[in-house]
Amino acid sequence: MSDIEVKDLPEVKLAGPVITVDGPSGAGKGTLCQMLAAKLNWALLDSGALYRVTALAAKQHGVALDNEAGLEAIAAHLDVQFKVSAEQAGVQVILEGDNVTSDLRTEETGAIASQVAAVNAVRSALLERQRAFQQEPGLIADGRDMGTVVFPSAELKVYLTASAEERGQRRYKQLIESGKNASLAGIIEDIRARDDRDMNRTVAPLKPADDAIVIDSTSMSIETVFEQVQQAAEKAGLLA
Ligand code: DC
Repeated sequence: MSDIEVKDLPEVKLAGPVITVDGPSGAGKGTLCQMLAAKLNWALLDSGALYRVTALAAKQHGVALDNEAGLEAIAAHLDVQFKVSAEQAGVQVILEGDNVTSDLRTEETGAIASQVAAVNAVRSALLERQRAFQQEPGLIADGRDMGTVVFPSAELKVYLTASAEERGQRRYKQLIESGKNASLAGIIEDIRARDDRDMNRTVAPLKPADDAIVIDSTSMSIETVFEQVQQAAEKAGLLA
């Protein structure tokens, strides 16, 4: 019998590799990340969803956007589950027992999320929750500060951008196709306001990490973007 029993050995946490994808809203990060996660069979962290859920919870609990301590408490005690279900397409987001998936992607929630995300204490409260997503065989992390703050030693960092006009056009097309009314000029204006807030906030502003590959998708299809990232992943030894 050996001197050391297996149960006495310290637990070793295996942390799988990470690919970070940062950039402004509407650049195609979500689609790219879903394609990468499916291709590599890796987990996916949609960090924007955490800020959006925090925004919804603050609204539901009547916490004002200038109440930093209140917002921090909301972020620290977020009761949220991300459920993948066979019946419904995509991930279902459950906040305090309620399915909030359809409220999550609205323009209003995005605008509140952007303000909530500018609060330092909220970002700190969500940091460990985001890092806990790191796992084997790997993680695709979608956001604004994945490569700069949350996963600074990620194996591959991508910064995906596109002009505000192009991102506005894409969003406008999506809204019209889903039968909603929309004003292109208004959407572009909102995108510029959100970019301004995300890029110029003092804490974790949106910017490419020094070691990120920067891809401008303004006149590129998502398939071409995917191919470029796949090649970079291959070079980094991340594709089997
Ligand atoms: O990616 P999204 O549109 O779902 O993000 C919603 C807001 O959350 C966006 O305005 C910026 C903020 N956000 C952030 O500050 N940091 C992240 N890692 C992800 C999102």
